[in-house]
Amino acid sequence: MKALITGVAGFIGSTLAERLVREGIDVVGIDNFSDYYSRAQKEQNLKWLHTTVKEPWPRFRFIETRIQDTDLATLLADRTHVFHLAGQPGVRKSWGRDFDIYTSDNIQATQMLLDACVGTSIERLVYASSSSVYGDVLPANTAPPSAWNWARTESRDSRLREDGPTRPVSPYGVSKLAAEHLCSLYHSNYDVPSVSLRFFTVYGPRQRPDMAFHKFLLAAHTGQPITLYGDGQQTRDFTYVDDIVTALISAATRGVPGHVYNIGGGTRVTVRQVLHMIERVTGKSLNIVDVGSQKGDMRHTYADTTLARTELGFAPTMDLERGLAAEYAWLLSPA
Ligand code: NAD
Ligand code: UGA
Repeated sequence: MKALITGVAGFIGSTLAERLVREGIDVVGIDNFSDYYSRAQKEQNLKWLHTTVKEPWPRFRFIETRIQDTDLATLLADRTHVFHLAGQPGVRKSWGRDFDIYTSDNIQATQMLLDACVGTSIERLVYASSSSVYGDVLPANTAPPSAWNWARTESRDSRLREDGPTRPVSPYGVSKLAAEHLCSLYHSNYDVPSVSLRFFTVYGPRQRPDMAFHKFLLAAHTGQPITLYGDGQQTRDFTYVDDIVTALISAATRGVPGHVYNIGGGTRVTVRQVLHMIERVTGKSLNIVDVGSQKGDMRHTYADTTLARTELGFAPTMDLERGLAAEYAWLLSPA
């Protein structure tokens, strides 16, 4: 395998790059250090790759560029596999004028990358899609999710399946779904061997600073207030980053072109349960501030991973509390 990773300086991209390089794989990574969060954290993510991977085996090459501004044909010429992780993340920030960035970095960049793959010998392009493509599962003919009284009717056991409805509740989810459709179109029309993975809320060392566990653990450590959105009874199927990386590599080697797979950790909990775990992991008592629900947040996520288990051999390995402890250890001394 000769890999191209887009978004290599990010949380998931840098973790994937390290795994591949440690396995002896030749990796080219690109990233434009977008300003969604600090360049310093992204440079720290690349530190091991820059300091450890040296001649005579220069298996990691980094190029600072935007996908849209680079010569993709040259970049792809000697690559066999593409991991497309670059994008503008974050569900709650995708409203208003910022949608411009989501359109260009999530939709347009993906289309340009797919177009550049046409006629090449790329064996797989694995796209980082999202559980945000689903949206909320409501009974038929009900009010929009923002007005729905969840406590009355919610069904907590409904796992999301890849062939179920996709009705995103955030502009971010719309952009991720559009890019997923582009992957399918370039597969069916131009034989680009794309595989999409719908990640369910990823956590672990290097997690983005806007994400819940990063914010909660840091606030617990420093004694700052923790902002709790909504009633805290919303649930997530949190997924440890190493399990995501394993799934990405399996998708690149075993994924069926054109297929879409859910990748979820199988540890679905309420946000309030997470806060109790954080108290145990940090040994601190928390100062929780209720700030109301946020537009764009799904109420529940829970992945049906039958397809990934069957076709990719996916089997998540990380227990949530152990994973939280690993993220806390990283926050205390980033490595
Ligand atoms: P991240 O922000 O840490 O990483 C994304 C990287 O892409 C950043 O370093 C950014 O600088 C780079 N980038 C953005 N636009 C670019 C462009 N046009 N050209 C080149 N580089 C660009 O985010 P992450 O959490 O590691 O997420 C990686 C991918 O996985 C994203 O596409 C995200 O939508 C998707 N995803 C993440 C999660 C999660 O829970 N973290 C869940 C579902 C899907
Ligand atoms: C995450 C990522 O940020 C998206 O990039 C990704 O696409 C999405 O997962 C996904 O799975 O598709 P989210 O689930 O909102 O989105 O992840 P977190 O920011 O970690 O939030 C988790 C939960 O904590 C949410 O219910 C949120 O409402 C809650 N939260 C978050 C708070 O209560 N307070 C906060 O300060 C932050």
